[in-house]
Amino acid sequence: MSPPLPVIWHDLECGAYDADLEVWRALAGVAAGPVLDVGAGTGRVALDLARRGHEVLALDRDPVLLAALERRANGLPVEIACADATAFDLGRDFPLAIVPMQTAQILGGARARAAFLACLRAHVRAGGHACLAIADTREAVTDELSEPPLPDLREIDGVVYASRPVAVVDEGEAVRIERLREIVDAGGGRTVLENVVRLDVLAPETLEAEGAAAGFRVLPRLEVPENDEYLGSTVVMLGG
Ligand SMILES: C[S@@+](CC[C@H](N)C(=O)[O-])C[C@H]1O[C@@H](n2cnc3c(N)ncnc32)[C@H](O)[C@@H]1O
Repeated sequence: MSPPLPVIWHDLECGAYDADLEVWRALAGVAAGPVLDVGAGTGRVALDLARRGHEVLALDRDPVLLAALERRANGLPVEIACADATAFDLGRDFPLAIVPMQTAQILGGARARAAFLACLRAHVRAGGHACLAIADTREAVTDELSEPPLPDLREIDGVVYASRPVAVVDEGEAVRIERLREIVDAGGGRTVLENVVRLDVLAPETLEAEGAAAGFRVLPRLEVPENDEYLGSTVVMLGG
């Protein structure tokens, strides 16, 4: 049976990104205990770490994505928690909390981020780390992509799914990424869906100041290099 559509789109749009994995592997390798992965989705990072023997608690607000992650974990040391990152209480703390792939920029602005950072602080133990990857999405701004990138494509049970960004628009406090998602069924029938994601504009120093206000210590940043398909990102490092 085909996975649910949200899982297909999530895998297609996030699943192939691997430029950051070395950073998360290195951080998990020196952490003394389980990793909290915030906004884990279908488990791109959580499953990669679990395959390397790290215990992971994968938190996301989307139960459909988490169900796919849980199925894929199949015996790996992964727990899941369905919760909103701006209001969660797991009743335990972690030596390492990671927030990959700009999740800190899709929470809905500074107020939501403050609530999120307060929750995060409560879940990072003394001496532990919270590590948040953010990107300067304004670098990618262009009202219309003159040469749209090739779509991410996948065929499942004779049905082709394709997704491609068609515009990246500066809205001031956020950058709007517009995608076209297409489904071509085995009979050639074509469905086109529009998808919009807004990423808050967020400089590393702003996130660091917000982290300090939530009670974290600010530590030296890490960098994830850009590649042909993805912007680079900065990993803001906050100490518990
Ligand atoms: C860009 S994806 C990143 C997925 C995964 N961490 C990765 O790197 O491939 C962002 C994820 O954050 C989740 N998310 C967005 N807002 C959230 C919130 N308020 N609370 C919890 N999860 C949230 C989404 O459901 C999605 O799975």
